[in-house]
Amino acid sequence: MQAIKVAGCIPPLLYSQLFVKIPVPTSDFSGQAVIVTGSNTGLGKEAVRHVVRLGAKNVIMGVRTVSKGEAAAEDIINGCQVSSSVIEVWQLDMANANSVKAFARRAESLDRLDAAILNAGVQTMKWSTAGDYESHIAINTINTTLLSMLLLPKLQASAKETGQRGRLTTVGSDLMYFANLAELETTGSIVQSLSDEARSRSWFSQRYAQSKILLFWLTHELSKRNPLTQDSNVLITVVTPGGCESDLFRDDIGPVGKAIFKFMSGLFSRTTEVGARTYVHAVSSELDAEAHGKFLMDAKIGADGMNVTSAQGKKLAKKWNEEVFTMLQREVESEKGS
Ligand SMILES: NC(=O)c1ccc[n+]([C@@H]2O[C@H](COP(=O)([O-])OP(=O)(O)OC[C@H]3O[C@@H](n4cnc5c(N)ncnc54)[C@H](OP(=O)(O)O)[C@@H]3O)[C@@H](O)[C@H]2O)c1
Repeated sequence: MQAIKVAGCIPPLLYSQLFVKIPVPTSDFSGQAVIVTGSNTGLGKEAVRHVVRLGAKNVIMGVRTVSKGEAAAEDIINGCQVSSSVIEVWQLDMANANSVKAFARRAESLDRLDAAILNAGVQTMKWSTAGDYESHIAINTINTTLLSMLLLPKLQASAKETGQRGRLTTVGSDLMYFANLAELETTGSIVQSLSDEARSRSWFSQRYAQSKILLFWLTHELSKRNPLTQDSNVLITVVTPGGCESDLFRDDIGPVGKAIFKFMSGLFSRTTEVGARTYVHAVSSELDAEAHGKFLMDAKIGADGMNVTSAQGKKLAKKWNEEVFTMLQREVESEKGS
């Protein structure tokens, strides 16, 4: 099953990397406010550059280290020749649920919020934990979903006020197609099992891909719980930028590995500027309602893949979503009450 899954995914992904040209975005963001997390570098930074160039009035860069965010903001402001007031840099540590909550609380004070690109993510072969969870699961999956849930009311309220549909996208990966689901088969809690180092060790090379299919399942579920209506006029998607040159693998490769990786990625990878075009497509106001809950790839709706459509995928997604939404709903309720 795993071999069939992997073999079936390779030709379309190679085609995407080698032959698909992502158009330069031209959507108008005039007057709009957009949040981009993990935007001091890589794809997030290029997404900020695009939306600033396209006229956004206010772009919030959510970054772990404010000084790095400010340096990136200065580069974008100078390059795009816009007023420094267009960009705000806010602290956000996606490894820490309290930081995520503080960030979302601050976002409530914005005049409006039209779109959010939840891009911050990690990939590493080093085991570490963040709060109660293994780090990929905490950062890429659970806290990204917590932030989606906390920002959604602001996006919904803005959409009502402005009459323009809001957009929320989480950044997944086409590696979700390859994720091996066998590790998720447990009679107990999936979350606890993924945070058990001894149990996870033999599966750890799968963890990044797993974190992205788990994120897709959650974001898709969020879209189902919030269908497009007058009161919830927010289009929710998951986007993949495709394979891009970036620092994502910084933890795992030394200088020689970096040189080899650079050479290999030069053959197949997109630049971060091109990859970030897919993010802009995912939050453009022209995006069609049929994209709600979908996986966006190459600036269009992509296939869900066997990890979503198979009986095993459906069964595990149901269990995972029930477990995580029960947990996060409690956090959201306690935030509302605080
Ligand atoms: N590059 C690819 O080929 C590719 C393909 C598919 C999907 N993606 C996804 O695209 C997203 C961006 O990746 P990238 O390639 O641009 O990698 P990158 O250059 O390493 O950027 C990752 C960003 O996430 C931030 N981040 C990491 N942990 C964080 C935390 N705890 N709190 C706040 N911010 C945090 C990083 O901040 P620091 O600088 O402070 O670490 C950085 O700004 C990720 O979600 C990744 O999974 C990438």
